[in-house]
Amino acid sequence: MLRFRCGWFIVCGLVVLCSIVLKRPAQAAPPKGPISFINDVAPIFKENCFACHDAKKKKGKLDMTTYENLRKGGDNEDPIVPGKPDDSLLVLLLHAGDAKRMPPKEAGEPLPPEKIAVIEQWIKEGAKLDAGIDPKADLLRELRVRWQPPPPPAAYRYPAIINALVFTPDGNKLVVSGHHELTVWDIASAKLEKRLHTRAERAYALAFLPDGKLAVAGGRPGQEGDVKIYDLNGSAAKMVDGVAILDGVKDKAVLVKELFDTDDTILCLAISPDGKRLAAGGCDRMVRVWDLATGNLEQTIENHADWVFGVAWHPNGRYLVTCSRDKTAKVWDLEKKESVLTFPDHQSSVNGVVVRSDGKVGYSVGDDKNLRSFNVAGDGKQVKVLGNHSDAILKIALHRERSILVTAGADKAVKIWDLEKGALQKTLTGHTDQVFAVAISPDGDKLATGSYNGEVKVWKVSDGSVLASFNASPGLAPAADKK
Ligand code: HEC
Repeated sequence: MLRFRCGWFIVCGLVVLCSIVLKRPAQAAPPKGPISFINDVAPIFKENCFACHDAKKKKGKLDMTTYENLRKGGDNEDPIVPGKPDDSLLVLLLHAGDAKRMPPKEAGEPLPPEKIAVIEQWIKEGAKLDAGIDPKADLLRELRVRWQPPPPPAAYRYPAIINALVFTPDGNKLVVSGHHELTVWDIASAKLEKRLHTRAERAYALAFLPDGKLAVAGGRPGQEGDVKIYDLNGSAAKMVDGVAILDGVKDKAVLVKELFDTDDTILCLAISPDGKRLAAGGCDRMVRVWDLATGNLEQTIENHADWVFGVAWHPNGRYLVTCSRDKTAKVWDLEKKESVLTFPDHQSSVNGVVVRSDGKVGYSVGDDKNLRSFNVAGDGKQVKVLGNHSDAILKIALHRERSILVTAGADKAVKIWDLEKGALQKTLTGHTDQVFAVAISPDGDKLATGSYNGEVKVWKVSDGSVLASFNASPGLAPAADKK
């Protein structure tokens, strides 16, 4: 029988029971057993229940994101009576036609009968956890690791948005984000050389480490995010039409380190000036710092109220400058583990941030269309508005030694700024869609940009001439590329 801790709930429970007896719709045919908790039941809970019943929100004091906590119950005891779905509070609430229904009316429709039937059948079979899974295991993580990434398209039907690109250390090639892959292009010939399959659907940030390996942050929006290290020189699984195909999902010679994985996308990363640490931030509002040699997580920083779009190291390696959709840029002291200052002047999403080589001034860009500079070492006050784009500025890049500052935006323009004068130096036009990615070559001579419609352009910094222009979506049909 059901055992309720609160008296009032007995009454509610009875009401629930009665309403079920009276209103219960014709039952769906029982699903074919045996039902697996992790493969069949947990995905239903994830889609319909975790939003309120995770470890943080715990509505009704119930956390459903581990098997153990689910069986502990919330305000009431174990909501499941193994073998007896009709006596299980959880099932009763799924059928409830009144205010007690789960998910609650304000959260949407009741669960479809066939999904309820799966849960009932699982309880009927004993409500067991699958062998090999720890009852304390985070079910989101268990579901995530079971998900298998699809291969990238052999030939793209639509261009892939370019969210990130980076020059190889020798400056001769570009690594570009694709759909479940990274592509490597020779700049002089605009020829595709390598395709590296990734678990992440999208890469949002790319940076080469001092040892020549590539750090990549990305994920699958709303589902998962990760930071991984790849070796682009790892052995190719095969050659297809002269292009090397690398397996960055399973091949340990290609996927050399997995630093981190989480429930939502990682949007930015930066390597410390001494090359020993990596900082990354993303949709979970956190910024994390790892020791690259050990792979250990050193610090988790909760300093923003919304997605973290940008992270930059102060040249002294002690401070991190970050920016967020929460409309601020901030400085964090990694030694004291405290927030040092907040720069609020954009008053709209701050999409990118960098710090000048002298460590005194930071530059930030945002949806307010402005490039602003502010005191990162002093009072955090704005130094000046250097200028603007005619639409949101999406990216900023700085070559510290050469003092080259570049911004790119939704207005399809790329702008190079004179740091000494604090003014616009040159506007580069030619992109036919919003520019989502910017990179400067290690020697500071070249600049690469990538756009929403898959177009990559490589520019000569000194005169703004175009050195290369191609669409980085392999095999894209020309018809789809006519823009
Ligand atoms: C929109 C938020 C929301 C969603 C989505 C939601 N719940 Fe709830 N749930 C609540 C709240 C709030 C309570 C507490 C109700 C109360 O105390 O009257 C609760 C209580 C419960 C309880 C009783 C816990 C106890 O020990 O008293 C169970 C069981 C439960 N929910 C199961 C589910 C299941 C299963 C789903 C998904 C099919 C789900 N809930 C989806 C908000 C939600």
